[in-house]
Amino acid sequence: MKLPKIKRMHTKILAPTKENIRLAAECIRKGAAVGMPTETVYGLAADACNPAAVDGIFCAKGRPQDNPLIVHIACEEELLRIAKGITPQVHLLAKAFWPGPLTLVLPKGDFVAQNVCAGLSSVAVRLPAHPVARALIKEAGTPLAAPSANLSGSPSPTTAQHVAQDLSGRIPLVLDGGACLVGIESTVLSVVEKPVILRPGFVTKEELEGVLGQSVPYAASVEAPLSHEDAPQSPGMKYKHYAPKANITILDAKDDAYVQYIAEYMKGHFTQDDSSDAPLALCFEETAPLLKQQGINFVSYGSQEDNRQQAANIFFALRQLDELNAKTVFAQAPKGQGVGIAVRNRLLRAASFRVVCL
Ligand code: TXA
Ligand code: MG
Repeated sequence: MKLPKIKRMHTKILAPTKENIRLAAECIRKGAAVGMPTETVYGLAADACNPAAVDGIFCAKGRPQDNPLIVHIACEEELLRIAKGITPQVHLLAKAFWPGPLTLVLPKGDFVAQNVCAGLSSVAVRLPAHPVARALIKEAGTPLAAPSANLSGSPSPTTAQHVAQDLSGRIPLVLDGGACLVGIESTVLSVVEKPVILRPGFVTKEELEGVLGQSVPYAASVEAPLSHEDAPQSPGMKYKHYAPKANITILDAKDDAYVQYIAEYMKGHFTQDDSSDAPLALCFEETAPLLKQQGINFVSYGSQEDNRQQAANIFFALRQLDELNAKTVFAQAPKGQGVGIAVRNRLLRAASFRVVCL
């Protein structure tokens, strides 16, 4: 990807002390974008009311201008300035899930910069649970526009070091809040009309339906590539996402068949003298011993039984594949309900929807 040129700078990774949060807030007030920990993934935060600062986010990430950003607030009252159409349903959702990993798309208010919403008449808002994110928003004295702090198209960052890997030299600092507990981005729920899930996340369809007492469908873009007609509703979903450099293929198969497939692939493509391009498995913990037996290298990202653990590790694992210089990867992906849907969604996008059913 060709990145927009910006004046290079030294990027500091700073402990989130009071003093450093004050320093980060000062950078934000001067119009810069800084790395900020949240409970989901790290964000690249700038003043949501300053169009030039918001432009700086798009530039630093190389993000397409038509992909809108999420506005982060520190208390629910701030919602009134940012969005309109705050119905009792919105209050119900906020009471149940804020602070936390739910983003609400609402009719736009007048307070935020136009480029935050990429020209749409709606705005995405989230009240994060991470204490450092909340302290930074308060200290900056303004709501913060913050996409995930990765280069556009690469896996979202779940540590301050990941942010530095992608954005070193392009931002002044990252506050280091350690590894993100959730590990995948927030659930994006549009409540502009009837509620619809634009991006699955840690807050599940079942939980939303429980609170709203009605069925909450996924947008078409969640499980399939986005068609042109759907693009205006869910702009972020049309771009390639979360992808390491390797070609990933998801294999929907029982453990044995999965391992067998990779073993056969190796026989067909490699000799013992040339194993430099050998494929890697991106697998569940339980499959690792079977892969070991066959001499297949792997990166595991959690137990088959534990979707939350998979979520916490998936982006870390995708970045590890790059570090291992993987070129061909065969992945196991969860099926089923709850947070597993969100993990599968990230893997589908990382694999450009290449799935083989065995
Ligand atoms: O957990 C998260 O949501 C993280 C942390 C940093 O808060 N942020 C994040 O931002 O994932 P980003 O920019 O990587 O993803 C925002 C998603 C995109 O898919 C974007 O298209 C969608 O939200 N979005 C933002 N504003 C929207 C709007 N007005 N209408 C529809 N979708 C919107
Ligand atoms: Mg992102």
